[in-house]
Amino acid sequence: MKIEAFELERWQSIWENQVELNIAESGVEPLTLRELLADSNTDPARILDARLGYPQTNGSQELRARIAALYDGAKAENILVTCGGAEANYVATWSLIERGDEVVFMQPNYMQVAGVAEAFGAKIKPWRLREKLNWAPDADELSKLVTKRTKMIAVCNPSNPTGAVLSEEVMDAICKAARKAGAWILADEVYRGAEFNGKTTPSFWGRYERVLCTAGLSKAYGLPGLRAGWVVAPAKIAEKLWGYHDYTSIAPTMLTDRAASVALEPRQNARLLERTQRILRENYPVVRDWLAKHEEIFSHVAPRAGAIAWIGFRKKRDTARVAEELREKKGVLLVPGEQFGMPGYLRIGFGENAEKLRKALARFDEWLKDEGTCKFGAGSVRAFSAQRSAVRGRLTVRSAGRKR
Ligand SMILES: Cc1ncc(COP(=O)(O)O)c(C=O)c1O
Repeated sequence: MKIEAFELERWQSIWENQVELNIAESGVEPLTLRELLADSNTDPARILDARLGYPQTNGSQELRARIAALYDGAKAENILVTCGGAEANYVATWSLIERGDEVVFMQPNYMQVAGVAEAFGAKIKPWRLREKLNWAPDADELSKLVTKRTKMIAVCNPSNPTGAVLSEEVMDAICKAARKAGAWILADEVYRGAEFNGKTTPSFWGRYERVLCTAGLSKAYGLPGLRAGWVVAPAKIAEKLWGYHDYTSIAPTMLTDRAASVALEPRQNARLLERTQRILRENYPVVRDWLAKHEEIFSHVAPRAGAIAWIGFRKKRDTARVAEELREKKGVLLVPGEQFGMPGYLRIGFGENAEKLRKALARFDEWLKDEGTCKFGAGSVRAFSAQRSAVRGRLTVRSAGRKR
């Protein structure tokens, strides 16, 4: 089976530990285990003395019940615990997609679901978010894209990379279009809880029968290294997905299961989300003020959720090249729009250290000043093209011996 390179993840995997100023992350400064346990009702011995065997492979009853409590009407039987939101998206897509299916895919987006669905033989139909609608999608366009062959409508809400939140009217329009076609909605809600105004984004869960919601602790909770994710699904489907999960990671780690349970204990849950929201409110003004000085160069709609600012060049630019120059010449890593299926834009992560962010933006200023005066030499053009083709190259992945 051939699969396109997941450019965003390749880009970050290759460079994130090599650059001086990484502002490519979409989450907030991660917590330590000590910080997670502080003030919690859990005795640290529960983690320290846990025997490192396999936990319940779909997630312990306690953890699944705590996850279920985040979704109106959900119970533990609706939950499959996975290794991050990434595995949740993977098993959900794998379980649904057959060759010849169509997938309507909101774009710009985190491109994982489109990449996996395409590898399984689906045709991807992009559904464009519109800057002039403050990055809302056009619901009329959706009804034109959805056909009898549509197996899945895949959305990301709150959106990575725009930070926009869908209105309830648009959510209802998505359910209506899916119902008409008998399609599934795959709603990646991993940024839910990271809202600037503290108002939790409504979930797709409970709005329509054929909904799979994926999420995890990587973004809104500041715990990406725990690799805790989940799928919320109708009970029968959650059980079916568990069978797919047997072929991927089998189970979360014992530490993941126990620590995720601590994070989702109600008081701790609220504390973690408040921490994230405070970081967003403290750090975003650094980007906002910088953009205010560059209004003639960039367009921008303020995010409503997530530690990410999506900025567009007013004049057409090869943003992959801009990102490459910033990395190579200024030691700054951010993400070009090409990696979200929308060239012309850049994503800046502001969830970590404000001082580092200021430094990175000052380097961006230097680059803007240099522009036009410092041209690429032939050597760096060659190095740049080689690196781009390494990132873009096709990866060959062997099928897991399962006939699809
Ligand atoms: C929209 C979206 N979904 C899923 C993921 C994967 O998250 P995790 O770290 O939980 O696997 C990411 C990571 O950036 C993301 O942005």
